[in-house]
Amino acid sequence: MAKLKATGKKAAKKKTGAQRTQEMVDAMRQWQGIERDAIDTCTGLMEKTDNLLVRQIMEIIRNDSVQHHRVQQFIIDSLTRTPVQLTPDDLAVIWDEIEKHDEAERETIKLGKELAKDCPFFVQKTLLDYLIYDEEKHDKLLGELEKFKRNLYPYA
Ligand SMILES: [Fe+2]
Ligand SMILES: [Fe+2]
Repeated sequence: MAKLKATGKKAAKKKTGAQRTQEMVDAMRQWQGIERDAIDTCTGLMEKTDNLLVRQIMEIIRNDSVQHHRVQQFIIDSLTRTPVQLTPDDLAVIWDEIEKHDEAERETIKLGKELAKDCPFFVQKTLLDYLIYDEEKHDKLLGELEKFKRNLYPYA
């Protein structure tokens, strides 16, 4: 048994950069297939129900799936066709505006949380929570840019 294990370990050679890239591209393409199925499923579900909340949720997920598909394509293109780089200078020229915008994102989170806290209605509370998650996501994405700007990613 121990012998087999040792052989297995030896066989698991270190992957090359090209192999890693290919694996990532393959996985992105597989994920894109799932997103396309999700778009069809959500469209189908929207046709099957008149319930406005369910329709709204399906529309949110469908639109997100379209967006996810685009981001996956961006990742694929950045690995295979058009390398993407980010420099501190790219951010420096627009940083004031980004910070101002991030402030607006945080303001919406605060507003949403105040409303959701006291909201006694299931439908509205559900959608407010959704909006809060989304605004938190925007804040987090901008936070990633800020980390980069502070040079926490020296090899990016
Ligand atoms: Fe998705
Ligand atoms: Fe936002």
